[in-house]
Amino acid sequence: MTLEHKNVQDGKYHVFPKGFLWGAATSSHQVEGDNIHNDWWEWEQTGKVKESSGKACEHWTRFHEDFKLAKSLHHNSHRFSIEWSRIEPHEGEFSEAAISHYRQMIQSLRSVGLEPIITLHHFTLPLWLAKEGGWLSNRSPQLFGRYAQKVAESLGEGIRYWMTINEPEVYIFKSYLTGEWPPGEKAPEKVYKVASHLLKAHVFAYDAIQDTFQKLNRPPTQVGIAKHVAVFSPCSSSLWDRISVWLRNLMFNHLFIKALIKGRIFYPGFFRIQLPRMKTLDFIGLNYYTRDFVANKGFRTPGVFGDVCTSKHHSDVGKKNFLSWEIYPKGLFLLVKDFSRYHLPILISENGICTEHDEERWQFIHDHLKHLAKAIEEGAPVIGYLYWSLLDNFEWAEGFAPQFGLVEVDYKTQGRKIRPSAKAYAQVCKTGLLLKED
Ligand code: BGC
Repeated sequence: MTLEHKNVQDGKYHVFPKGFLWGAATSSHQVEGDNIHNDWWEWEQTGKVKESSGKACEHWTRFHEDFKLAKSLHHNSHRFSIEWSRIEPHEGEFSEAAISHYRQMIQSLRSVGLEPIITLHHFTLPLWLAKEGGWLSNRSPQLFGRYAQKVAESLGEGIRYWMTINEPEVYIFKSYLTGEWPPGEKAPEKVYKVASHLLKAHVFAYDAIQDTFQKLNRPPTQVGIAKHVAVFSPCSSSLWDRISVWLRNLMFNHLFIKALIKGRIFYPGFFRIQLPRMKTLDFIGLNYYTRDFVANKGFRTPGVFGDVCTSKHHSDVGKKNFLSWEIYPKGLFLLVKDFSRYHLPILISENGICTEHDEERWQFIHDHLKHLAKAIEEGAPVIGYLYWSLLDNFEWAEGFAPQFGLVEVDYKTQGRKIRPSAKAYAQVCKTGLLLKED
């Protein structure tokens, strides 16, 4: 018996389930480079953000090298997104060249033994659709469904996991409330329509993928959504703060999932969205980063959802990352337990830290995995963990400064350097074991 086996028997390790998906995630616009046909590219050209994505990590041409790095780190899966604006650069015209390029990427993943997990929409829109109003356009859900069908037909063979839309509510928040992202609107009155179209788009994509798989007699596939989740804590014990926390949790964590399970949704404010059909989720992807303290001084702060409290008396609560988000590993336990109520498999589709101090990254991963393991030990149906991100990359409005990568990227030379944290994480990926008192 090896020492490792003995230690497992002695209960010194958290043991992750067999077949667990281990890996990292990326998204097209953040790593590929030269995504000139989407709304983000145009937004960058008008100087609305600090930096332009430009060549990003040149992942479009360097993907094989990057996937080999991931494999050397014992990952067995990789989440990446397909860029709609490359597949369909002009309305109704699908680019065979782009399709064939993504086919090569999928083959490359398989050739090194990584399970491809495909995201269909990760914040960017083809320019032609953006010009028509983007997700405000009544045609957007159908158009997304048609794109999903094309991808499922031409690239879907053997794909086991799909994520239709990445973080719909973050998209709505940044694009239609704070105006930091394209189309740069501050228009609460438009939120209902955008939300309803995003939800319908998911349903159309779900149907397109599942119907294509059935028609082509392919083995079953699973379609989910990548849901941004946060822990909300009351700033004080006041009733108002607790009401706001409860509402935020419902609104920002659960509402979209409930909608996709029930086929309908009631928004506070008495809007009702009816989806074309019920239960269009085979698994739930959770993207988890941080916790927010919520303060509400009656109706003096913005509405019943309160306001994020950044006051000093919370500063000792936990360390913060480079972007000042609190690091709260226990939150992963709490959220995974909470989402277990849906009795669907849960994939941690993003969890990560941006930091200039790599030792903080391994601490972050370790502490989050410890809490994830506890949730699994208590019966949570978790199927995998994907660190955000494989590479340092273009962090949207924040530009290239935040370093999320397991692998450092030198943007001048496009050189890659594996960070020590990546090697520590690799040990867990390799063995499925996490030392308890580490
Ligand atoms: C997004 C990524 C982003 C990451 C870090 C997630 O919400 O899906 O695109 O880079 O957070 O901000």
